[in-house]
Amino acid sequence: MDALTALLNRNSAAKLADPAPQGDDREAIFQAALRAPDHARLRPWRFLTVEGDARLALGEKMAAAALFENAELDSAIHAKQLLAPMRAPLVIIAAAKIVEHPKVPEIEQLLSAGSAVSQMLTAAHALGFAGMWRTGSVSFSRMFMTSIGLAENETIVGFVYLGTAQGRQKTLPELASTDFFEPWSSINS
Ligand SMILES: Cc1cc2nc3c(=O)[nH]c(=O)nc-3n(C[C@H](O)[C@H](O)[C@H](O)COP(=O)(O)O)c2cc1C
Repeated sequence: MDALTALLNRNSAAKLADPAPQGDDREAIFQAALRAPDHARLRPWRFLTVEGDARLALGEKMAAAALFENAELDSAIHAKQLLAPMRAPLVIIAAAKIVEHPKVPEIEQLLSAGSAVSQMLTAAHALGFAGMWRTGSVSFSRMFMTSIGLAENETIVGFVYLGTAQGRQKTLPELASTDFFEPWSSINS
């Protein structure tokens, strides 16, 4: 699939099943992440791949963190967290790895890590796979981040769920570029 077709047609899929990308496909998806725009080439990211039974262990960490953050947590939400990583055969925890830099503030490093996620999703789509970028409340929990081994300067930007789309695809939205893009000149300001 050519690049523009992939960019214009990428669509998230909530229902993902085997197969997950493997071998050269997986490597191409990873390399696409590493081509994200990156000021000063800091590589401000770290990706943890979770598959097989490790997804159950991740679900346990998620459920424990959800309970830690909210002792009144509804038991149904607790149960949902336990199984959340089972929604795809491959889950990639995408973290921004923030360093002090005289020219590259934290926001730029977060944006780079987010761009890397976007690049992965588009690459997966181009290769015939599908994915979904998810967060959810535990992804903002420092207790959760520590429990999965992230350092203090690493922060989750998302869980990338990857696999093969099941069922019918959502229809793509049709957006008018003129609703979001407008010519600017000094008269506007
Ligand atoms: C940072 C980020 C976090 C997201 N977290 C969730 C989430 O937790 N749950 C969810 O249903 N969608 C989440 N989304 C939205 C989906 O990934 C997706 O963009 C949305 O369903 C629209 O589908 P589309 O990207 O195919 O247009 C998130 C998107 C971003 C950018």
